[in-house]
Amino acid sequence: MAEKRLVRIRDMKERDLGQVHDIEVQTFPTPWTRSYFAMELGRRRSICLVAVRGGEVIGYLMSRFFGREVHLTNIVVSREERRGGIGSRLMGEFMRRCVERGVRYITLEVRGGNLEAQAFYRRFGFRDIGIRRGYYTDSGEDALIMSTPDLQLSPFVSRLGISNRGFSR
Ligand SMILES: CC(C)(COP(=O)(O)OP(=O)(O)OC[C@H]1O[C@@H](n2cnc3c(N)ncnc32)[C@H](O)[C@@H]1OP(=O)(O)O)[C@@H](O)C(=O)NCCC(=O)NCCS
Repeated sequence: MAEKRLVRIRDMKERDLGQVHDIEVQTFPTPWTRSYFAMELGRRRSICLVAVRGGEVIGYLMSRFFGREVHLTNIVVSREERRGGIGSRLMGEFMRRCVERGVRYITLEVRGGNLEAQAFYRRFGFRDIGIRRGYYTDSGEDALIMSTPDLQLSPFVSRLGISNRGFSR
């Protein structure tokens, strides 16, 4: 328990990309390339975060801005650290920054079969808004499109003292 308190969430830097990419490769059958991470990190206004314990990256989150909508493009916690609240801390910090910047909606795509991630997103108020058929070219799997309600209107704003484990139900 004490160890968990030492986890820090901060902006991703170029020097983190080696560790970030290692986790990515261990996680997904079709991982992003390191240069793709570098390109996304270089985008103006993007929010890219890492969770770090000591010098070690144990999770990360990537996003891309489209006006007042933000697309959450990637969130991963290293396998051995899952279910310990790290993903929630990344998401909590991300949502807090989005609200501060006047973002209205956060959207994302998730594999239809990735029920774990869907459960995680629902915990943060994401709801299903559509399906992209055959979106994932490696498996032909459908993508579920999920979105928050309007962050500037919903009670989200007042609940953004977000707890480590999502919103209270
Ligand atoms: C999704 C992911 C980032 C969540 O990170 P995490 O640190 O494990 O999540 P947390 O410990 O903060 O979990 C918060 C809540 O989300 C839900 N949740 C998380 N993992 C879950 C799982 N495997 N099954 C069901 N619910 C889950 C639970 O409600 C959990 O609260 P609880 O532990 O009190 O029940 C992590 O599972 C991951 O890296 N998955 C692989 C990569 C991936 O699929 N990313 C999403 C791509 S779209």
